[in-house]
Amino acid sequence: MDISIRLKAITDMVEKCNCCADIGTDHGYIPIYLIQKEICNKVIASDINKGPIEKAKKNIKLEELEKFIQCRIGGGLTTIKPGEVNSAIIAGMGGNLIRDIIEESKDVFKSLDYLIVQPVQNPEILREHIYTEGYEILEEDLCIDENKYYEIMKIKYNNKIQKVDTIFYEISKYLIDNKHPLIKEYVVKKIDKYEKICHAISEDTKLARNRRREVKDKIYRLKELLLCL
Ligand SMILES: C[S@@+](CC[C@H](N)C(=O)[O-])C[C@H]1O[C@@H](n2cnc3c(N)ncnc32)[C@H](O)[C@@H]1O
Repeated sequence: MDISIRLKAITDMVEKCNCCADIGTDHGYIPIYLIQKEICNKVIASDINKGPIEKAKKNIKLEELEKFIQCRIGGGLTTIKPGEVNSAIIAGMGGNLIRDIIEESKDVFKSLDYLIVQPVQNPEILREHIYTEGYEILEEDLCIDENKYYEIMKIKYNNKIQKVDTIFYEISKYLIDNKHPLIKEYVVKKIDKYEKICHAISEDTKLARNRRREVKDKIYRLKELLLCL
């Protein structure tokens, strides 16, 4: 089965293992790919909603992979017992939701060799949480799929709190240190996004002035960072 650039970048981070869980599986493409490419022996495809699980089941049946992929319904990592899987993936959800899923099932998160997360919105909120909780960032990647940038992080439970400059919540230190080929254009894109946000704040309330100052500060810090890339 062919998968999108985003899903391929996610599955590229999965190491050969016995069992992986895909949380918020929807279409089930990730589990199907992981089995077909013999990356995992088994996959648990989990989703909070019945509709997506029915869709995943249909796609799994079409590929005749029912023996290798088990579908479960439930929220976040609550469908997984600690130690049941080697790794897990949470992709295509907002950074806030991914953070809440991790915290809701900390025992499961602690038992994983690693968790791959791919936030579609607010990656900076998730990265701030990872740093402030002291979780370990093992690897990161960035891809463009249909003109949209996607950040992917491979993390692991730890409690070594690292003080990092807050600009690294916005832009991955890992991707900068590893000179990712898309990092420069990604910073430019972020500057553009914040400039648009800044122009859109038109009111003259104290709240709006504070928000404008905050956004302008981010733009300034991102431009500073750009000069070093
Ligand atoms: C946009 S789809 C992403 C599908 C796939 N993971 C991907 O990256 O292409 C989001 C999926 O997450 C599911 N979802 C939303 N909140 C969830 C939660 N708390 N726990 C598990 N699944 C959830 C939705 O039902 C939906 O199927």
